[in-house]
Amino acid sequence: MTRQVVFSPSGRRGAFPEGTTVLDAARALGVDLDSVCGGRGICGRCQVVIGSRPGVEARADRLSEPGPTETDYQGRRPLGQGHRLGCAARIVEDVVIDVPPDSQVHRQVVRKRAGVAALPVDPVVRLHYVEVPEPDLASPTGDLERLLGALEQEWGLGGLVVDPPVLRILQATLRQGGWAVTVAVRQGRDLFGIWPGFRDLALGVAFDVGSTTIAGHLCDLLTGAVLATNGAMNPQIGFGEDLMSRVSYVMMNQDGASRLTEVVRGALDELLGELVTEAAVDRGDVLELSLVGNPIMHHLVLGLDPRELGTAPFALATTSALDTPASELGLHAHGGARVYSLPCVAGHVGADAAGAVLSEGPHRGVRLQLLVDVGTNAELVLGNHDRLLAASSPTGPAFEGAQISSGQRAAPGAIERVRVDRSTLHPRFSVIGQDVWSDEAGFDFGAVTGICGSGIIEAIAELHLAGVVDTDGVIRPPIEPSSRVVASDRTYSYVLCSEPLIEVTQNDVRAVQLAKAALHAGARLLMDHYGVEQVDEIRLAGAFGSHIDPLYAMVLGMIPDCDLEQVSAAGNAAGVGAMMALLSGVARTEIEEVARVIEKVETAVEPRFQEHFVAALAIPHKTDPYPLLSELVELPPRPQPGERRRRRSD
Ligand code: FES
Repeated sequence: MTRQVVFSPSGRRGAFPEGTTVLDAARALGVDLDSVCGGRGICGRCQVVIGSRPGVEARADRLSEPGPTETDYQGRRPLGQGHRLGCAARIVEDVVIDVPPDSQVHRQVVRKRAGVAALPVDPVVRLHYVEVPEPDLASPTGDLERLLGALEQEWGLGGLVVDPPVLRILQATLRQGGWAVTVAVRQGRDLFGIWPGFRDLALGVAFDVGSTTIAGHLCDLLTGAVLATNGAMNPQIGFGEDLMSRVSYVMMNQDGASRLTEVVRGALDELLGELVTEAAVDRGDVLELSLVGNPIMHHLVLGLDPRELGTAPFALATTSALDTPASELGLHAHGGARVYSLPCVAGHVGADAAGAVLSEGPHRGVRLQLLVDVGTNAELVLGNHDRLLAASSPTGPAFEGAQISSGQRAAPGAIERVRVDRSTLHPRFSVIGQDVWSDEAGFDFGAVTGICGSGIIEAIAELHLAGVVDTDGVIRPPIEPSSRVVASDRTYSYVLCSEPLIEVTQNDVRAVQLAKAALHAGARLLMDHYGVEQVDEIRLAGAFGSHIDPLYAMVLGMIPDCDLEQVSAAGNAAGVGAMMALLSGVARTEIEEVARVIEKVETAVEPRFQEHFVAALAIPHKTDPYPLLSELVELPPRPQPGERRRRRSD
């Protein structure tokens, strides 16, 4: 007798003879129901729940009573409350079967940040358990041929290409596993791993290689769970603080590129070791890796000469995504592990920007998004599902605290938030590593060491709002003398902290003006190319982008005028993009397609860049009145054309 089975959420349905297992019914209907063990009751990935629909209420006896396979089941993935193993439960009545997300091969892992797309999980690496017929004198086929035959018959995996190391351990592994093995197959094509018996552990690592820091995320490829996250300094700093000084090092030293490659690969391998230790797993469990980085980091990790990136026309060795054996990059993971590096967009817009695009998805929506990854070289992407444009802008290291008199990296002791009283000009500030503000009890002035990028931005923006820094960026003494604004040579400085002495000097303001004007000009240039005067949304990516208060970024004119509600931090978007590419073949295809159609705008050869740059030197901007920002804060009156400005000697 046949019974009706409906699977949700797919809605697929069919009639099956009584006694058919749920897994077999799902397979027959093409329902996305996971299995690593091939229905042997070992992996626990096929868990289902009895559901309901009008006329078919949820009743346990619509499926067979749990037998020993389920009652004795002790797999790594515990059987949830009310869950049944799809490979063991048999259909005895008409039934609705709910497939929970965890039991789907292609699932979405919802990220915690609000308003962000879910993370698709459909890894390119899959594990398959298979039982192989023992050799037989009567039919003398090789062990490999019998393994491939079993994989084709049971999993539909035909035409597999076998990595030579697998062949070398094949016979011993088959015998050790009692003719049952688990294999790892990449993209349904390459058989690159084999283990005796059943195995349910496939891990991956996503690397985000920045010029200052490197971040790594260890993920479970089968569930999308992040098992460990860690970071390290990029040891290349010893060869030059910023990217261009590292390229110079390569140009001036014959073995420069190989030394930089060696140290960064060493750091990645060390980080990999830390991640697996933290998660109490083995390096050999890491079967797949992914990589993002700016073009120079990308080239150096992959062992590509970055010299062409130092001068126009900034030619990349390749813009394509690459798949490289991990062992070739000095990474000690599983012997068959490979590293997927995301595509680069252009000479100064790298795989990190591609990662950020994949994560933020401007191309998926209709709203016009400006995605800004702020670093020593800002990478900018503007667009929506119609069109995407990208550029980079030479902001220099001021936003990272370099070129600032008391500047430092964002580290404990750095002033990161600043407020200036509009009438007394007294400051209050907060410092990384201290919970209280400088005007609160318990604040330790002795622990203040300098000011970081977000601190200097807030300081200058607040000083502008307080009337101390004018539209041209000149520090001017107030009419009522203030101990806070002090003369220094022919200019003035603002004393933010007297002990230790931390000042905002005229040169500091200039350095930040140059950096912010470059960033703003890059954004305006993209807007010109797109033909718009305003964007719908601005996302500030990168570690620094996450620290900037959008209000102050706008007061300073780092970014174009925009509804402040629509300006937000994107967190480590490039790293999230690397994770997406690690966990999803679909995500890889998506970013490869998108990277191909992004239009590159080269700021260095665009005459309008210089025009925009000059206008953007003013705070917030020489010609743009920032109407949306003006609704929120009272911007100081702008000098009218011809108005004589009050000078120090006035
Ligand atoms: S398919 Fe592995 S336990 Fe059911």
